[in-house]
Amino acid sequence: MKSKIISNVKRLFQAMPALKHKQQLESVNADLQFRLEEVKAANETAIKLLKGVKSKNAELEKAVERLRIITNVCMTVASTVDTDELLKSIISMTAELADVKKGTIYLKQYGKPSLTFNYTYGAGAQAFGDISSDISSVYSEFMASGDSKIIDGRGIDVKKHYGINNSAVWVPLKLKGLVIGFMLLEDKIDGTFFLKDELDLLTTLSNQVVVAIENAWLYEKVKTNYFSTIHSLVNALEANDRYTKGHSERVRYLSLELGKFIGLDNRELEVLEHAAVLHDIGKIGIATTVLHKEGTLTVDEYGVIKTHPLIGDQILGPINTLEGVRTTILQHHERYDGKGYPHGVSGEEISIMARILSVIDSFDAMITERPYRKVLSQSKAKEELKLGAGSQFDPDIVNAFLNMLEAKEEALLFTAGYSL
Ligand SMILES: [Fe+2]
Repeated sequence: MKSKIISNVKRLFQAMPALKHKQQLESVNADLQFRLEEVKAANETAIKLLKGVKSKNAELEKAVERLRIITNVCMTVASTVDTDELLKSIISMTAELADVKKGTIYLKQYGKPSLTFNYTYGAGAQAFGDISSDISSVYSEFMASGDSKIIDGRGIDVKKHYGINNSAVWVPLKLKGLVIGFMLLEDKIDGTFFLKDELDLLTTLSNQVVVAIENAWLYEKVKTNYFSTIHSLVNALEANDRYTKGHSERVRYLSLELGKFIGLDNRELEVLEHAAVLHDIGKIGIATTVLHKEGTLTVDEYGVIKTHPLIGDQILGPINTLEGVRTTILQHHERYDGKGYPHGVSGEEISIMARILSVIDSFDAMITERPYRKVLSQSKAKEELKLGAGSQFDPDIVNAFLNMLEAKEEALLFTAGYSL
């Protein structure tokens, strides 16, 4: 009996280390489980943070893109003084910024009953129009309120209510507290709806837009006044000289007709028209004793006359948007073969407007009386143009002019003011 008890005690002592080891293992296991839970939680936090970083990155990229477009708008604001170009650029860049399918800019024309003219961007392409239209009654309400507004397409028939397709944002353009127009941006490309922060951004942008529009309007006013003054000078200059009276007006009319016949665009026609009226403005700087001298000029006197394109260029210098007009005036005595003046440029180095002006200026000079030679008949003048084609004149322009005359000669020359 005693020996059995001793044996059991011995076995118990022998088992004790194993028991202790098991307890240690269980403790380590529990600790590991705890650590595992901690790692899992840390992982979940890391995943959440990563998502946050990605989302912030996307927001940052979007903000950078918006900043880029705003910078572009501001650069346009600073560099464009042509109202049409300015409005087209502004609405296309703003529509890009707002990520919309369609954007329209409306400007009220004071002095005309409730009319606006507008430039539209969108419908899958840059479809700019300048069609005047009445302001609808809804827009009149906006104009009267003068507050920016998000029109949410959810829950209402916006087409019926506002005459637009879906959601939109309306941003007024205010000049010195007066609403002079507005921008309407419609249908987000991604199908989402406008948010308050987008409206705030567009409202801030509209302030820059108004500064630019005001600058463009002021510049146009200055330009118009400047031209009006110079036109008066041209008229005064010609009125003093019986030989050149009405010359600029006839050259303006025929040059424009030829420009249209050739297919110049509106911008080129505008340049051509101004240049045609002003082409001899530099003669203001030539002594009248030389300018009005009867008979043959000396070499020196002819040298003085030849400075008038350069003087004209200098007179128009202050109007820096009229580079085309200045170049055309500068080049109107250049020859196709390079033997003209003042710089001896040739061929297509001479602007197409100057090549047109050269043909019309010479034609008018030939069929009207001049102190240094007798008047030529119109058929003789046409022969002279043909003889000069390829040397003095661009042969294509001469051909176009002769074709145009053939098609409607009497009507053209009569309207231009020639006696037939
Ligand atoms: Fe001239």
